[in-house]
Amino acid sequence: MANLLITGGAGFIGSHTCLVLLEAGHQLIVIDNFINSSPESLKRVEKLAGTQNHLTLIKGDICIESDVERAFAVAHTSNALSYSSIDAVIHFAGLKSVSESRIHPLYYWDVNVNGSHTLLKVMAAHGCRTIVFSSSATIYGYPRQTPTPEDASIAPINPYGHTKATVEQLLADLAGSESGWRIARLRYFNPVGAHPSGLIGEDPRGIPNNLFPLITQVAAGRRSHLKIFGRDWPTSDGTGIRDYIHVMDLAEGHYTTLKVLLDEKPQMLTLNLGSGVGISVLEMISTFETTCNQKVPYQFTARRFGDAPKTIADASLAQARLGWATKRDLIEICRDGWAWQQANPYGYDS
Ligand code: WQD
Repeated sequence: MANLLITGGAGFIGSHTCLVLLEAGHQLIVIDNFINSSPESLKRVEKLAGTQNHLTLIKGDICIESDVERAFAVAHTSNALSYSSIDAVIHFAGLKSVSESRIHPLYYWDVNVNGSHTLLKVMAAHGCRTIVFSSSATIYGYPRQTPTPEDASIAPINPYGHTKATVEQLLADLAGSESGWRIARLRYFNPVGAHPSGLIGEDPRGIPNNLFPLITQVAAGRRSHLKIFGRDWPTSDGTGIRDYIHVMDLAEGHYTTLKVLLDEKPQMLTLNLGSGVGISVLEMISTFETTCNQKVPYQFTARRFGDAPKTIADASLAQARLGWATKRDLIEICRDGWAWQQANPYGYDS
């Protein structure tokens, strides 16, 4: 099994991926500054995995070189963990709000780009050249082709998307600079849902930006109603269409990607992680109401600036290259997301 550094491992996708990795027998060092996460998530992850002393948590910031060095130092000195060195990094740490990135571009470029640059410098200095990077479908901007394949044009339309595209380019430059780099760039579509136990899930700080956590909070009565951004989109029912992927499918996609990087040693993998199925806002609402027997009051409002009518993954390459595809459907997404919301009305701080 491998010794892995997980940046942002206490977050939504990071915590679910840590669970899958612990269950597979890996040893983890997690670095997280808890700006959009809670250490409680990892306590619950270890409980779910039934492991002890296989995860070391470091409160740290990937923008601070000494913090990242500390993570590598733990790999050499930890008594509790039989680390020798770090075999690979899964890099989740970063800021991910499109709207916030428009207001604070300097902040987003610093954390997402300089933070990744710092991490990669320290990795190279320690001879660790295997990384799975958390990228995003946002780099496609307004996709001209849906479902969208990986060779579609990269045309981000917001600072968040630009930062992800920039780190992808940095990784491509690294892969070409010297032998030994093993890099995966995973482009997520819309991660949603939660582990079926209801113990871990999405816990956005403040008012969520994204549809699914808003639906669960409206259903729970935390918010009065949902605003549907536009009913005049060129889609079947006039509302926006997205490719929603269960977070456990996404976590398993990371595990499978890492396995291929470590076993087959490809220089670069660039893959869409999505279901390949487009779901409209109204379809999501009606599926949630039926599955969870909860009403979700809503009102139609104007379109949200920067939204695209439809984003759907062409996920065939991940299937061909990894043998991975989503297994969980929209009903499981709604059921598991609602179980998390019900058990944790105010997230990890409930
Ligand atoms: C989904 C649909 C909205 C909220 C974002 C990021 C992307 C990725 C996933 C990180 C759209 C509609 C939403 C609401 C609504 N994150 N909606 N009312 O915008 O597809 O993608 O999250 O990588 O980078 O851009 O997700 O959940 O915000 O929106 O009607 O209150 O729901 O218009 O059609 P999006 P979303």
